[in-house]
Amino acid sequence: MTTVDWDALHAAAVEANAKAYAPYSGFAVGCAALTDDGRVVSGANVENAAYGVTLCAECSMVSALVMGGGGKLVAFTCVDGHGATLMPCGRCRQLLFEHAAPGMLLQTLSGIRTIDEVLPDAFGPTTLDAYRASDS
Ligand code: THU
Repeated sequence: MTTVDWDALHAAAVEANAKAYAPYSGFAVGCAALTDDGRVVSGANVENAAYGVTLCAECSMVSALVMGGGGKLVAFTCVDGHGATLMPCGRCRQLLFEHAAPGMLLQTLSGIRTIDEVLPDAFGPTTLDAYRASDS
């Protein structure tokens, strides 16, 4: 069982928050996660004049994870511009689920929770595997 240094993850999320590009909402978001091999990956939101194509902080973090060699996420935290904990939006819970180690932990408004608690009965890779298997 990995011990999670939540203070270090929070600090990485705050550092990432400072890099946010959020000129439209003025709402900077930073997030950070611990990987199963001990790395810390982070991300910030990147907005766009075409509002709908804005990238959430989790998008940039997951891209950094994949581009940095991949791996699974074991613990995650997300903060606003005051360093207060934020819940990932619904879409980003799905993004996190795809790359989560079993039982991935998240810092939430109601304490530490698992990915399965914040995205129950998730649609994911095994859903597609099962469908393909039932088809053949
Ligand atoms: N945002 C994130 O970066 N992550 C979330 O999980 C929720 C929302 C960003 C998107 C947008 O740039 C700003 O917060 C306001 O919605």
